[in-house]
Amino acid sequence: MNLGMFYWPCGHHMAAWRHPDGVADSGGNIAHIVELAKLAERGLFDLFFMADSVSFWRGDLKSMTRDSFGTWIEPFTVMCSVAQHTRHIGLVCTSTTTYDQPYLLARRFASLDVTSGGRAGWNLITSANKLEAASFGLDEHLEKTERYRRAREFALVVRGLWNSWGEDVFVRDKESGLYFDESKLNVMEHRGEHFRVRGPINVPPSPQGEPVMVQAGASDDGRQLAAETAEVIFGAQQTLEGAREFYADVKGRMEAIGRDPDSLKVLPGLAVCVGRTQSEAEDKYEVLQDLIDPLAGMQLLSRRVDFDLTGYDVDGPLPELPPNKVVSTRAQLFAEIGRRENLTIRDLYRRIAGARGHYEIIGTPESIADMMEEWVRERGCDGFNIMPPVFPSSLEDFIELVIPELQRRGLYRTEYAGTTLRENLGITRPVWP
Ligand SMILES: Cc1cc2nc3c(=O)[nH]c(=O)nc-3n(C[C@H](O)[C@H](O)[C@H](O)COP(=O)(O)O)c2cc1C
Repeated sequence: MNLGMFYWPCGHHMAAWRHPDGVADSGGNIAHIVELAKLAERGLFDLFFMADSVSFWRGDLKSMTRDSFGTWIEPFTVMCSVAQHTRHIGLVCTSTTTYDQPYLLARRFASLDVTSGGRAGWNLITSANKLEAASFGLDEHLEKTERYRRAREFALVVRGLWNSWGEDVFVRDKESGLYFDESKLNVMEHRGEHFRVRGPINVPPSPQGEPVMVQAGASDDGRQLAAETAEVIFGAQQTLEGAREFYADVKGRMEAIGRDPDSLKVLPGLAVCVGRTQSEAEDKYEVLQDLIDPLAGMQLLSRRVDFDLTGYDVDGPLPELPPNKVVSTRAQLFAEIGRRENLTIRDLYRRIAGARGHYEIIGTPESIADMMEEWVRERGCDGFNIMPPVFPSSLEDFIELVIPELQRRGLYRTEYAGTTLRENLGITRPVWP
């Protein structure tokens, strides 16, 4: 199976920064982030992933004063550092198609692919954070369908630029004086709805030819774009049933357009808290849960249900939410669970504090490996994007306890297969139509 290591400042649990093991300035501490990437490389992870939003996640800064994840180093800059301190692990980071230009992005990622020896991957997103609009002089975030239209054309241009230089194009013959063979150049001349771009890109190809395309969309538009362009897709499936539906849908869409379904790896997020025994794992998790600041917990829950709960009793039930205030079916479902199970506000925020809606497992190496094995065998995924609750200790635990169990079962590598990200993922360079 394939494994990504999903970096999030301090860890994925919201109280990670207050934990004795937590590095409170994680998001701005490059030495610490590089150490985490090196640690992940020791655990033979396929890739090190960093998410991004170009702007603050929320306009209401007052409600973020107790969160550690508002600020971090811009991920591409992080990847450039990590590239110089690692040799095998893939380097995947997010860049938005909504507020960037394809030529600039293609050039940056192609350059990282060269400097890292063929380990770069681009997580294509259309910007989940609507507040980014204000950073670019716009009053409104682009509407989703329009964002994906732009993303589709954006990806086409980026790929065209990455394919500027054909095989063996560089002759560099000192004798004859010929540097490159013009007949092997693919000069893209793109004129589309959003972009007009002439190639070639002025970066030479890397050992893997072009960076790996990654995506994380979940909607119909997102899935379709992934089926057309992605080689890795992240997800946030909550159940094996949901994962199987997603997997079959995306791979089915690939088949429908003539792409080999095995050329894309589906990696849902998985937050793992492991102990040598079940009670040790639960105790570790409890330490984090008890560190949740009640105000921060209520603010988190308020955002989830789109209703300000901060004036309510934390040990009382969720108040009746005005129907027009319930913005999403997910929030509505959540409120229903609270009522059905008679949960307090504190109970509810504790349920979502660990992984922002991703699947969470608290267990022994065996029970965690069982779950991972089942999901892969049942075609729910090809692997996982691992989300340790607190850095570095939860990642150390995963590497020390879960990886050997996966290896013992023959489910995971014991050494890196190659030097490029694609070789590690077990896929070949795509031939784009
Ligand atoms: C693991 C994972 C990582 C993501 N990373 C980012 C990110 O860095 N920035 C961002 O704006 N959105 C990110 N997203 C959100 C997705 O790009 C996407 O918008 C979301 O899953 C909803 O899908 P949709 O856009 O098709 O509606 C991420 C989602 C997942 C599951």
